[in-house]
Amino acid sequence: MPKLKIEGGNLLTGNIQISGSKNSAVALLPAALLCDTKSKILNVPKIRDIEYLLKILEVLNCKYEINNQELEIDTTNLKNAPIPENLSEQMRASYYFMGTLLARFHRAEISFPGGCVIGARPIDLHIKGFEALGAKVTIIKNKYIIEAEELKGAHIHLDFASVGATINIMLAASRAQGQTIIENAAREPEIVNVAEFLISTGCNITGAGSSTIKIEGSNSLDNGIIKVCPDRIEASTYIIMGALIGKNLCIKDLNIKHLEAVLKKLSECGISYETKENEVIISKCNKILPTTIVTETYPGFPTDIQPPFVTLLTQSEGISTVLETIYESRFKYTESLKLLGSKTITEQNLLTIYGPTPLASNNLYVPDLRGGAALVLAGLIATGTTYLDNISLILRGYEDIVEKLTNVGAKIEIIE
Ligand code: EPZ
Repeated sequence: MPKLKIEGGNLLTGNIQISGSKNSAVALLPAALLCDTKSKILNVPKIRDIEYLLKILEVLNCKYEINNQELEIDTTNLKNAPIPENLSEQMRASYYFMGTLLARFHRAEISFPGGCVIGARPIDLHIKGFEALGAKVTIIKNKYIIEAEELKGAHIHLDFASVGATINIMLAASRAQGQTIIENAAREPEIVNVAEFLISTGCNITGAGSSTIKIEGSNSLDNGIIKVCPDRIEASTYIIMGALIGKNLCIKDLNIKHLEAVLKKLSECGISYETKENEVIISKCNKILPTTIVTETYPGFPTDIQPPFVTLLTQSEGISTVLETIYESRFKYTESLKLLGSKTITEQNLLTIYGPTPLASNNLYVPDLRGGAALVLAGLIATGTTYLDNISLILRGYEDIVEKLTNVGAKIEIIE
């Protein structure tokens, strides 16, 4: 199994270019199947999740051409087919084919989705949305069968502002008859990105980015075109890395508006940075103040940045607390951080961090994607050489992470 070998202590300086958002791109590829003939998606990140989604497009007889980050999809001969377990289990986002295939064929058959083990991650809100539109959902072994005679617009209220449920219901509603209203919709930038794509296909959507989204269904959508928005989680991860061990590290091609909660928290920790149009320039902070974090839905502090931020807090001078309100078990990576020398206590979804603690290298196991990012940052500041196992999870969500970090002076490589 390949491992990441990281030699800690090297100051990082230079430019890091942010890629297209994983969590937007993995929704846009299934959304493209709503088009009758063709669509184009720009700024697609080169990550494992995209590779798996392209394999699912092949199962559905979709033609595509990808040149670097530009993807052209031809749905002229789209055919409905069951999404096999060996593909759907590779990631969470495979569940977006439920909304798309239901919209196109009034039937979707898909094995249970996979995704990071950070909680139960049910999809009851997605199913409630499909049922409100007129679908019947049955579970046979580990497969969802979703069928509808017809899809009619509905007024749906989400008990929780779920990103996945908001997007999946938007996809299904885009070709339903009449208007669908989603109340308590999630407001993440990725949802706005998907709505912009649907609007480019001729779908009438208003309110994306707010808590109430209105979708006028249409029986024909086509010629979609979209640029994947910058990955705010990748950008935040590298900005935090700059605060730990940067020297005028410049993180470019980001969308500063999407980073407000994280930048505000960094300022609370006494960390200064310079912002320009779409870039942040940051250097190692020698006196990091402790803070309290509560993860929330957007525009609150993002749960996906909780792990990398905890690595930062292991170096803060005092006691910090992190309340994880989105997932019920997203602190697994802290066990690995402790092997490097951090001092933390976990009580259910409350983490207390006692800093600063010098970190020393060790051999670690990556439990999930963002926990893995936290361990990469820890390895970059630990004395000695740290080895990370199970790194495919990291490669799922961070495009060219080894190249990007090597280019700014990190001693990091993948070894077999
Ligand atoms: C998306 O997951 C992201 N993944 C996650 O990023 C991110 O953490 C999450 O949104 C929150 O921002 C993708 O976009 C592929 P949710 P999603 O539905 O859609 C509960 C990463 O590291 N819930 O907003 O699955 C659920 O259990 C990943 O890039 C229900 O109870 O998130 C969770 O506790 C990790 N019922 C909470 O809501 C439902 O039907 C957030 O889920 C749906 C969700």
